[in-house]
Amino acid sequence: MEISYKYIRTKELMSLDIVLKNAKIFTSSGPIEGDIGIKDGKIVKIGDIQEQYIKTIDLSGKYVIPGLIDGHTHMEFPFMSEITADDFYYGTKASIAGGVTTIVDFVTPSHGQDLISAYEKWRGNADPKVVSDYGLHMIIREINSNVLEQIPSVINKGVVSFKLFMAYKNELMLPDGDLYKLIKKISDFGGVTGIHAENGEIINELIQEFLKEGKVEPIYHYYSRPDILEIEATNRIASIASLVGKDVKMYIVHTSTGEAVDIISNYRKMGYKFFNETTPHYLTLNTEMLKRPDAFRYVMSPPLRSDEQRTKLWYRLASGDIFTIGSDHCVYSDLQKKRHMEKVPPFNEIPNGVPGTETILPLLYYFGVKKGIISMERFIEVTSLNPAKLFGLYPQKGTIMPGSDADFAIIDPEKKVRISPDVLHSNIDYTIYDGVEVEGWNVMTMRRGEIVYEEGQVIGKKGSGKYIPGKTPIMM
Ligand code: URP
Ligand code: ZN
Ligand code: ZN
Ligand code: ZN
Repeated sequence: MEISYKYIRTKELMSLDIVLKNAKIFTSSGPIEGDIGIKDGKIVKIGDIQEQYIKTIDLSGKYVIPGLIDGHTHMEFPFMSEITADDFYYGTKASIAGGVTTIVDFVTPSHGQDLISAYEKWRGNADPKVVSDYGLHMIIREINSNVLEQIPSVINKGVVSFKLFMAYKNELMLPDGDLYKLIKKISDFGGVTGIHAENGEIINELIQEFLKEGKVEPIYHYYSRPDILEIEATNRIASIASLVGKDVKMYIVHTSTGEAVDIISNYRKMGYKFFNETTPHYLTLNTEMLKRPDAFRYVMSPPLRSDEQRTKLWYRLASGDIFTIGSDHCVYSDLQKKRHMEKVPPFNEIPNGVPGTETILPLLYYFGVKKGIISMERFIEVTSLNPAKLFGLYPQKGTIMPGSDADFAIIDPEKKVRISPDVLHSNIDYTIYDGVEVEGWNVMTMRRGEIVYEEGQVIGKKGSGKYIPGKTPIMM
């Protein structure tokens, strides 16, 4: 790697810790000329830095962008009878290697558990292990005795975003009445409601029909969750949320259809604060994956869709209609995906979820920016600025300006990489992007002024990441 270090001795008092020199700096509002001066983990100066400093990093030929914020990860997630294979150490090592300096993970209470003790459990799991910084969302799976009363205390802990499920019947799904009550309560206290929008009742009917007919292969995961069931659920939740009022802040997570994006965009044009997230896998993979011998690895919800839908998503990403990219990193080993059996289990028993936090940057950069579909500014907006605003982390995170944390991904725009498990850091031995060739790769990650990844190695220490409490989200 061409990154070189130069140490300059000076008898003067050192006013800066590190200076990043000669890089092309990109922000969501365009490129900036100059150097970045860092002190105590913060950006203190941008421009031509002439004063004496102790350490410079020469980044000629590299791009410096804000560290990515992956607003959608499931580390140590108990779901569909398994706990995801990436704990907060492996998972955030993968994030850091991919230029993601902050993740926002989902506190997932167990049945009957109160929200605050679930929050404390997640802090206990994450704090000793995280390499990246992290924030938390709260999943609400049921309205038990004190859930509604606990929402303000949850927000006070810095958990300002929630996730409610319209699918996964008998596990996480909520009825419309509960969705309404929760959106109202969350909104009253300034929180953001994230929604998994698929019609879980009808999906359950379709699953039962296929199983009865002996149709158990992974492709039936797709047939049991047709596009229209995401579109219907998105329309329904937008109607319910609009009834609550114009103050509601809502985003639909992992949107996989152009039509669902359009529903939300139309509400936004009417003044509602509704947004969409999509994921790199909906942009780069299609339903054909569910016909491969290793199709079980590609089971996630909503399912991978047609190339026509992929194209619609790229257009909406380019136009600004899609607000954020999150990975939905939810990793299961082959053994877990097969539920510890020789044969692949029926499609409805395969734990849902795929890896993704480490490959957001190369996939979106290569297939989006390099291919000329989205601008660099747009790339930065959806991967750092917008998630920071949506989850109350801005301006500490999500931007390059004086006062913000010195969190950077440093891209070598020419570096060619063939993706394989060997170049990735998750606690599994496969990748759903095996053999995909990209140009442009994260070669160094800086988190609060510290180099935590370089030359393929994560050097950030276990537990060195910090919990970043969210504040009231800023929406457009
Ligand atoms: O298949 C997925 N998406 N697994 C993770 C849980 C969720 O719905 O986000
Ligand atoms: Zn979901
Ligand atoms: Zn998810
Ligand atoms: Zn298991």
